[in-house]
Amino acid sequence: MTTTVPVIAIDGPSGSGKGTVARRVADALGYHLLDSGALYRLTALSAQRSGIPLDDAAAVATIARKLDIRFDSNKDGSERIWLADEDVTLEVRKESTGAGASTVAAIPAVRAALLERQRAFQRAPGLVADGRDMGTQVFPSAALKIFLTASPAERAQRRHKQLKDKGLDVSLAALSRDIEVRDRRDSERSVAPLTPAPDARILDSSGMSIEAVTKTVLEWVAEL
Ligand code: C5P
Repeated sequence: MTTTVPVIAIDGPSGSGKGTVARRVADALGYHLLDSGALYRLTALSAQRSGIPLDDAAAVATIARKLDIRFDSNKDGSERIWLADEDVTLEVRKESTGAGASTVAAIPAVRAALLERQRAFQRAPGLVADGRDMGTQVFPSAALKIFLTASPAERAQRRHKQLKDKGLDVSLAALSRDIEVRDRRDSERSVAPLTPAPDARILDSSGMSIEAVTKTVLEWVAEL
């Protein structure tokens, strides 16, 4: 008998709250979590550290294939990310790393290099996968596909708060501009653009608390 490990795919633009919601949903269900954006961020970071220009497609794809990374959590449940032996948790979350991630994410060979690594996260009892193309490319037969969005102003404010909470100082105006550029690049790229899967449920979280969004997602899971 073959059993399929269920996948809950949560896609959406930057600052839509998908990272936080995905983590809470995974915790509530006891499922594994895939933060696919972190893989693109780590690829960009690793390339930058090796002095490889982010538009050198072949060299960046090689970096993506060979990524030596580890995801961990602190006692309080907060994340910890390792690149080889180095703790890069803060570096990974910087907006400059997000911009680099969005540049390398437009390279088809990088996406191909990361595909199987992402699919390997699908393990029992289930997976919550957060990204841009979870429902369209990586897990097209996911049990539930959600496209989580929010107004651009609210997304910028959420990101701003998130970075401040991590001790990273950045102006709201600069962040709004960065997010706009990143969203446009992610939506207009030819490979795996940011777009809802035809069978995704759209959830506009503007004005909703994280708790309310998480509750809605869990209700949809319960309907499966
Ligand atoms: O979600 P996060 O902000 O960490 O993603 C960083 C960048 O990685 C995104 O702007 C996007 O360009 C890229 N990405 C992607 N596909 C995914 C996840 C992230 O292209 N599944």
